[in-house]
Amino acid sequence: MAEIGIDIAKAKQLLESNELVAIPTETVYGLAANALSEDAIVKVYTTKNRPKFDPLIAHVDSLEKVEALTKNVPEKAKVLASQFWPGPLTILLDKKPNVPDLLTSGLGRVAVRIPNHPLTLELLSQLDFPLAAPSANPFGYVSPTTAKHVDDQLGEKINYILDGGKCNVGLESTIVGFEGEDAIVYRLGGTKVEAIEQAIGAVNVNVNMSSNPAAPGMLKSHYSPGRKMIIGDISANLSKLDKTTTGVISFRDSFDVPKTNLSVLSESGDLEEAARNIFSSLRLMDQKHIEVVLAEYVPKEGLGRAINDRLRRAAAED
Ligand code: TXA
Ligand code: MG
Repeated sequence: MAEIGIDIAKAKQLLESNELVAIPTETVYGLAANALSEDAIVKVYTTKNRPKFDPLIAHVDSLEKVEALTKNVPEKAKVLASQFWPGPLTILLDKKPNVPDLLTSGLGRVAVRIPNHPLTLELLSQLDFPLAAPSANPFGYVSPTTAKHVDDQLGEKINYILDGGKCNVGLESTIVGFEGEDAIVYRLGGTKVEAIEQAIGAVNVNVNMSSNPAAPGMLKSHYSPGRKMIIGDISANLSKLDKTTTGVISFRDSFDVPKTNLSVLSESGDLEEAARNIFSSLRLMDQKHIEVVLAEYVPKEGLGRAINDRLRRAAAED
């Protein structure tokens, strides 16, 4: 098991020695390493069991530090940065040569984000390099939203987890890039598409659902609780199954299954609360006695679109 605490000096010292540290953000916990050190980045890929074609996000605490990594920044990107950072938005920008190819999987753009968590912002302000940080879960599994989630799965492999409490957004950042003048959303996440459109006008949403994606990392099957998942009318599906071995993830309503098998995302129908709970709910279904998980889509608006995206990928089989 890893040590869990709030010792920023310890986190800093480990990161400066090219070691990994799990860090809290407002979205999910990240598995952090020095983003300018190939030795450190390799450890991230190995520890997560992540293919090297799937690039990492660089986290910094200021626009000056973004500028040190990027060039040709479009006007719309500047608007997004000023409006949404620090926050759950990642922007793809042309990289400068100092950014290691290993970080971007050889792509010409680097993903950057200023996260909104006080502990991590303080840590970043004390470091003279950015932090590469993918979600702190084994590749393909559900993202962690508490220090304990990280410890449960990566605790044997890392020394230290900086504990920032439960993540208050609960979904990964929205990823935006540009093709010419057009803004494209490549991953739905914690910043609503509606809010982005209010800031810069219409955007294209291009979230790949493929087993062999053109945009790396957006694999069809991801966030898997390791159980067969069926999305649809929960009552109808439940009537055909053994309730003792069936898990249920519902939006608002309760269902007639054992209490340990049920997770209601938000009784009041609040999509932000549902977003905070979705990954814990998926984890809860990873219990030995559960064979099948029934879930339902939430309303297709605001964070609901990102929640539905995660449910769809969690249920995908390849
Ligand atoms: O909220 C978040 O973004 C969290 C926290 C820790 O910041 N991080 C996160 O990282 O979700 P990760 O590695 O689990 O997901 C990053 C996604 C991947 O799908 C990856 O393919 C994509 O971002 N990505 C990273 N760099 C990219 C690049 N240069 N071009 C295209 N996609 C990129
Ligand atoms: Mg991830």
